[in-house]
Amino acid sequence: VGNHRYSAVDLPRLGGESLMRMPVVLRLMLENAARNMQGAERDIAIAELLGWLEAGSSEAEVAFQPGRVLMHDTTSTPALVDLAAMRSTLAEAGVDPTRLNSSLPVDVSVDHSLAVEAFARADAPTHNMAIEIRRNRERYTFLRWASKVLRGVRINPPGTGIMHTINLEQLATVVTSEMRDGAEWLVPDMMIGTDSHTPMVNGIGVLGWGVGGLEAQTVMFGMPTMLRIPDVIGVRLTGALQPGVLATDLALTVTGRLRRIGVSGEFVEFFGPGVSTLTAGDRSVVANMAPEYGATTGFFPVDAHTLDYLRSTGRSSSAIARVEAYCRANGLWFDPEAQPRYTRTIDVDLSSVAMHVAGPRRPQDLMGFGEVAATLAALDFQRDIDSPLPRHPVAIAAITSCTNTSDPRLLIAAGLVARRARALGLKVPPWVKTSTAPGSPAAADYLARAGLTADLAAVGFDIVGFGCTTCIGNPGPLPEVIRQGIADGAIRPVAALSGNRNFPGRVHPDLELGFLMSPPLVVAFALAGDAERDLRVDPVQVTSTGTPVYLDDLWPTRDEIDEALRGSQDPRDYGRAFAVASGNPLWHGLEAPDTALYPWDPTSTALRRPPFAAASEGSLLGTYSAFPLLVVGDDITTDHISPASAIPKDSLVADYLVERGDDRNDLNVFASRRGNWEVMVRGAFHSKTLKNLLVPDAPVAHTLHVPSGDILPLWDAAERYRAAGDPVVLVAGERYGTGSSRDWAAKGQRLLGIRAVLANSFERIHRSNLIGMGVLPLRFPADVTPATLALRPGDRIEVAAEAEQLRPRGRIAVRVVRREGHTESIEAIAAVETQLEVDLLRAGGVIPST
Ligand code: F3S
Repeated sequence: VGNHRYSAVDLPRLGGESLMRMPVVLRLMLENAARNMQGAERDIAIAELLGWLEAGSSEAEVAFQPGRVLMHDTTSTPALVDLAAMRSTLAEAGVDPTRLNSSLPVDVSVDHSLAVEAFARADAPTHNMAIEIRRNRERYTFLRWASKVLRGVRINPPGTGIMHTINLEQLATVVTSEMRDGAEWLVPDMMIGTDSHTPMVNGIGVLGWGVGGLEAQTVMFGMPTMLRIPDVIGVRLTGALQPGVLATDLALTVTGRLRRIGVSGEFVEFFGPGVSTLTAGDRSVVANMAPEYGATTGFFPVDAHTLDYLRSTGRSSSAIARVEAYCRANGLWFDPEAQPRYTRTIDVDLSSVAMHVAGPRRPQDLMGFGEVAATLAALDFQRDIDSPLPRHPVAIAAITSCTNTSDPRLLIAAGLVARRARALGLKVPPWVKTSTAPGSPAAADYLARAGLTADLAAVGFDIVGFGCTTCIGNPGPLPEVIRQGIADGAIRPVAALSGNRNFPGRVHPDLELGFLMSPPLVVAFALAGDAERDLRVDPVQVTSTGTPVYLDDLWPTRDEIDEALRGSQDPRDYGRAFAVASGNPLWHGLEAPDTALYPWDPTSTALRRPPFAAASEGSLLGTYSAFPLLVVGDDITTDHISPASAIPKDSLVADYLVERGDDRNDLNVFASRRGNWEVMVRGAFHSKTLKNLLVPDAPVAHTLHVPSGDILPLWDAAERYRAAGDPVVLVAGERYGTGSSRDWAAKGQRLLGIRAVLANSFERIHRSNLIGMGVLPLRFPADVTPATLALRPGDRIEVAAEAEQLRPRGRIAVRVVRREGHTESIEAIAAVETQLEVDLLRAGGVIPST
């Protein structure tokens, strides 16, 4: 293209027809694996990989070398704290600390810490931002230090938006260039991110996925990430979405379908004629929810819609022409008729997708929006006292999350519902906390230009800022009437969210029920105020003149959305709004040091040097007899293991912080304390909805210390076990570690002394994080579960996992020694996929191996 040379897979010469029938994601991986090779070496490597792919070898490993890394403030803080601590350790050992840097560009978005303190008022963004900067001053100063001192680290300040939206709108190039031997070569833009929703960028043909912070550290230190050549599931899309049905409905439908079928850890690629009926915005919504359907990717190839998206977000015409030319020349341009060879194929007829919601506790639990009422009724919540509130009031109605606030069509649709409600004089009931938190500041421009800002504000959906907010457990305080209702046992409130996760307690520790839905439906549920109202047949509200208003009266048509969108978007908004937000004066007013070593403050409650970065305990492998520290069931999420949400005022963690001078009324959220290992280890498993099957009556985050018979906080029990030299393990059921990429879910377990986690299945990123911390994940055979094991206090678990014998997916002998003395043997499988993972476990994790 122009003067550039292709770093092409060179399809016709090397692979011909056979390669062209491969899924696009595999072709891109092939390209990536060979990116640093030239000439004959390259040809041979590609031919060899091609042979493996042809043979469907499940043993073949491939190196993935992303070109860039994306992080957010709460996963980057622990990763950069580790790096800062390792620099301090190097300096103490007389080694030049500046040798330790990132070898790749790292973009950090400060998006996870914005809380909805002020809402339903025009000045909410400034008010909330000021609180955010005050609360997180020390951590943000540290991030500013990192960006000054560590090569390659760039920070996108608070207010610039959510990382995945920034990635779509600002960072992703689809095709990029790199210098090799003095020539500029074009290569596909490929990346990883320390957030499970990184696949959102798959919607515009960029291959990338979410990894744990520890895996990202290996990549930052210049190592490739190794993975088995993945199974690729092809989802064939046919037909077109019906009028009124939105991208959110499709994403929830795909999530429900694929979770049922089971695509855990696999690559998903969308193909077929239905792809062409979806905009790049629609595709990105579906791609975003890959972790909810359990997949590593949710990939859509490049076509004219992709170029439209790049155009509408202000990319230069030469950059767009380069994408088109490169993709066409390399067989990467989408062909609706192509029938790639996938491991499995699943059909989704877009015309059969209806308006859906998911809940009340998992994103895969799909239902028609009218079934919410019946679902809640079936929970059979009885209340014994009178209350003016409905039994299941909508306590939070949040237009939130990267998933559904990055596509202008969805925000415009919410604005149109608000416009009709406003015209009819409808008001949101006073117990509902409303908010709009778009993924980027450009949204404020197109909403204003479409004249919808005032309509949203009229029903309480003012913009509260640009960040994750409610989606990550930062909804701010619940309305007082709701708090009182919960305390009285009069209500069981619900959240209505345009987010992607509704695990109990994720959004707010006191909210156990949540429904995921499109932004316009969030507005409708807010107006209804009562989640038990069946919006298929019941009015959303009755006007002051007694006229019932039904959902159909409020719902916009596709033409209305298109019409409102036309003329409201200006491609120049995207770069301009991002540049203005990047200049955030509060952020730039933070004075940060620029010394090669971070000046640790020994009194800090935000940042402390983690012990694992200073001295390694070495490998946790070996043969040992362990007490189970915790026994838990299925679907234990990273929100259970290491909550991100508010630190409860009456918790041991709060006591720890208050003893060190913090204000009990302003403790912020767990996610903001990930630079302080002492807080995080005390906060591990701090979840009201987690059941410890070993001692079901134990208080939150407590367990039985078997030798003494005492019920203790987990940290204290772990300390006693450690002091006595007693190993501990954790036992779990299916899908252990579902949810986000937070490495603290693994670090907390390592600091609790857990040497192995025995589970029925693991979620991909958490499994990788456990290995990154040197903790061995083991899979039970199909007929063993926590229920069939029925562990009782005093039972022990013997694990024979010697380092030399450990192999990817190798057998590991496990024996349960009952307290009465008899034993039961179990043949577990190491949930270890690659030789690199074996090596990490032998070294004791990523940090010692670095
Ligand atoms: Fe943030 Fe929620 Fe997306 S936490 S990155 S908005 S999934």
